[in-house]
Amino acid sequence: MNKRIVLLGLALLLAAGMVLVGGCQGKGGQAREASNVINIGFAQCKADESDWRMANTRSMLNTFNRPGYRLVLSDSNNDAAKQVADVQGFIDQEFDYIVIAAVNMDGWDTVLRNAKNAKIPVILVDRNINAPEDLYTCYVGPDFKVEGKKATDWMEKHFAGKPVNVVNLQGQLGAGAQVGRTAALQDAVTKNGWTLLAQQTGNWSTVEAKNIMTSWIQQFGDRINCVYAENDNMADGAIQALREAGKNVGGKDGVAIISFDANRPYLQMTLEGLINCNVECNPLHGPKVLEIIQMIESGKQPQKVMIVEEEAFYYDTITQAIIDARQY
Ligand code: AHR
Repeated sequence: MNKRIVLLGLALLLAAGMVLVGGCQGKGGQAREASNVINIGFAQCKADESDWRMANTRSMLNTFNRPGYRLVLSDSNNDAAKQVADVQGFIDQEFDYIVIAAVNMDGWDTVLRNAKNAKIPVILVDRNINAPEDLYTCYVGPDFKVEGKKATDWMEKHFAGKPVNVVNLQGQLGAGAQVGRTAALQDAVTKNGWTLLAQQTGNWSTVEAKNIMTSWIQQFGDRINCVYAENDNMADGAIQALREAGKNVGGKDGVAIISFDANRPYLQMTLEGLINCNVECNPLHGPKVLEIIQMIESGKQPQKVMIVEEEAFYYDTITQAIIDARQY
């Protein structure tokens, strides 16, 4: 409970727009010569949008809260245009590095070209984007379509040829995570002849997902036998709606629940059988970003694309020991 209060406090601070961690004050470039501090601008989506995002924010803040580094986090409140402006602000202030967890895949060419012209390395974390590869230094994060395939592979086994009538709670439209996970479901629906009853964005939010799921239950009733929720918070909202409607959720015979992120509280729900399949999306990017910056500082060039290893957890094989050993 304490951690969540601390995180909430942090999230409130972040919601105010900026959080400064690490070394001294001062502008980017000039501060570097004077104090030999590496100035990093981190353009975050929306720091308190989900359990996953709070873990991701915490990883970055904790990693760079050390001598020799100054990390300034800008919170775009999931507004793609504001995030691009935040990045331009880091360029104008001559930051040494810019790290971006992109709200949307599109709209990056101009500002990334400005960063390139200013000779500021750009490191993409978490979310992939649609932009020429020469406009950013590297991408470190998941392959979201592979994450989705892990979930649909489980669905194929679970339903074993029986009819699937699935509803899809999508992430914020245009986000790399949403595009990849939705594409995997679409491929599986086409391949298996499943019925996609409905599809709508819940914007990663528990409340939005619960409201959407409530209306789908009224519309489709017991036809729904699978919910494909593109993150834990939305899966939780869907489960709340189903349980309030008296539906049997999860387990062997209930409405099958697919989720992504595998935050610890939702792995607990997987162990309880409420979530059937939970695909990990690792938020702990801080150490990887530090490693990349240190590599660049020593004159080495990082790989262009670094896909992080991720696994999936299932209601009938997960254990408390697995959950207890998790970092987030
Ligand atoms: O990009 C990762 C996604 O962003 C997570 O699955 C979701 O919870 C977050 O909002």
